[in-house]
Amino acid sequence: MLISRRQLLTSSAIGLASSMFGLACVRRADSFPCDLTPEQTEGPFYPVDRQLDEDNDLTVVSGKPGRAEGQIIYIRGQILDGHCRPVQGTTVEIWQATARGRYNHPRERRNSVPLDLNFQSWGRAVTDQEGQYLFKTVIPGQYPAGRGWIRPSHVHFKVVGSTHHELTTQMYFVGDRYLESDFIFQNVPRAERYRVMVERQDPGSEFEPETGLYNFDLTVRPTT
Ligand SMILES: [Fe+2]
Repeated sequence: MLISRRQLLTSSAIGLASSMFGLACVRRADSFPCDLTPEQTEGPFYPVDRQLDEDNDLTVVSGKPGRAEGQIIYIRGQILDGHCRPVQGTTVEIWQATARGRYNHPRERRNSVPLDLNFQSWGRAVTDQEGQYLFKTVIPGQYPAGRGWIRPSHVHFKVVGSTHHELTTQMYFVGDRYLESDFIFQNVPRAERYRVMVERQDPGSEFEPETGLYNFDLTVRPTT
């Protein structure tokens, strides 16, 4: 059973930040018992080409002998709807840059960083009965996105299903020095930023000791 996002926050630095930002904010008219995850732009690098390998382990590519460069991490979480109900059988997609900060995408033309051919650029998972998903990937590299603009490390998420509205957002890492100057992150209302930030947890005995574990729960808008 995963620790819920709310439980995690009570003991984490993110929780401290959230109290500093006054998260006991006024509820909006469309608010739900469980607050919806803030939406963010899909960006230019949403996958357009099918891959042979589309599973939830991005650190190896089927048919290739190598392993992706970079720090291996696990991202797991639970998908809830606004009524706090676990969303079972919904598809969670992620896509991201390689450890060196390069997307494998036809629109990626200006970045001279070499591709990591052992990195599976995007993947997907289907949630279990409790709405839980798991990915194995690497910490994405920061990369230049424009004049004087460097994007912090981030993982793109899209949650697609029939019982809720599609959710597109991005996940960031606490302590990234480029968060303060990132236009996309700064566009998330200040009081909601903690919801798209994750902090490293000890992988425990469940995962390899040299990896990191990050918990990222998402709340989607139900259709009913
Ligand atoms: Fe991105």
